[in-house]
Amino acid sequence: MTRRYQFAASHRLHSDALSEEENWRLYGKCNNPFGHGHNYVLHVSARGPLGAWGVAVDTRLLDQLVARQVLEPLDHQNLNADVEWSKPAAPTSENLAMEICRRLKRNWSAVFPGVWPTLEKVRIEETPRNIFEVRADEIE
Ligand code: NI
Repeated sequence: MTRRYQFAASHRLHSDALSEEENWRLYGKCNNPFGHGHNYVLHVSARGPLGAWGVAVDTRLLDQLVARQVLEPLDHQNLNADVEWSKPAAPTSENLAMEICRRLKRNWSAVFPGVWPTLEKVRIEETPRNIFEVRADEIE
């Protein structure tokens, strides 16, 4: 099953190791010196057998985990300044998807101590055209 969440955050994609021109070519509009925001759409997918009541995942528990690990720390934050993981790498949505998947995976068993459900994948929509997916088994 997949559950959808939303949060807003700002960033600027920039590397001091690159020239202004190289930064612009690599990061495009996301290199804007004053930063900008995105309304990120997050999909978290989990897998499990149906219990006696025909339900694969306790969404109340999933919501708690996502709120604590992702929405509360990231919503309305500047991903460059306020979020430790994005340094020194730029807070691209590739990095963001990896970090969200890492946080959920690391804290999964505290919320779901059994064999099931398992975390399947994380999908981030930065814009309707830029979508990033990470499979949980690709993350340590
Ligand atoms: Ni951007």
